[in-house]
Amino acid sequence: MTPARSDSPEHLAALRAAAAECRACPLWKNATQTVFGEGPAPAPLMLVGEQPGDKEDLAGRPFVGPAGQMLDRALKDAGIERKTVYVTNAVKHFKFVPRGKIRLHQKPNSAEITACRPWYARERAAVKPVLVVAMGATAAQGVLGRITPINKTRGRLIDLDDGGEALVTVHPSYLLRLPDQGARAREYQRFVADLKVAAARLRRHADAA
Ligand code: URA
Repeated sequence: MTPARSDSPEHLAALRAAAAECRACPLWKNATQTVFGEGPAPAPLMLVGEQPGDKEDLAGRPFVGPAGQMLDRALKDAGIERKTVYVTNAVKHFKFVPRGKIRLHQKPNSAEITACRPWYARERAAVKPVLVVAMGATAAQGVLGRITPINKTRGRLIDLDDGGEALVTVHPSYLLRLPDQGARAREYQRFVADLKVAAARLRRHADAA
């Protein structure tokens, strides 16, 4: 049998199956399942979030809950079609503490981000994106391989050591947590502006092809 091309859906399907058995950190024990990335391969844009939330853990798909709805709206406003984007998370299991009937989100620690990084690297090798957008501090750490304050790097194109490019922005959940309507509207526009930088980069790539 010929091996699947690294950008073929078969290759990603094999990665997904292997990730379903991952025991590289303890998060698999309490999560429902591994939530692997989804989308086309190759894809010009790869979006990376933090980790699946409650809804994603149950559905087995990234960004299908409230943060996903916020993301979908912002992508649309930035002129990006979600179906053209490969969407994944830096950490592929839901980390939470139970509080009665609720499962309270817990931020992944550095060891968990590092343990999950090979899956991101394999996805990226398969998807071959022109640009990776890291949403939030956990995603930035997973993508850049180091702790990176968002506000220092936000909204600009960063050259990666291997020749790829990345852009760091906030996580859509951050917008959902802002209590003040005005601040939320302003921050939403900044998030869309960051995604527009990504969209412009992809247009330049398409024009040059
Ligand atoms: N937040 C994330 O970072 N990823 C998801 O898939 C959902 C919420």
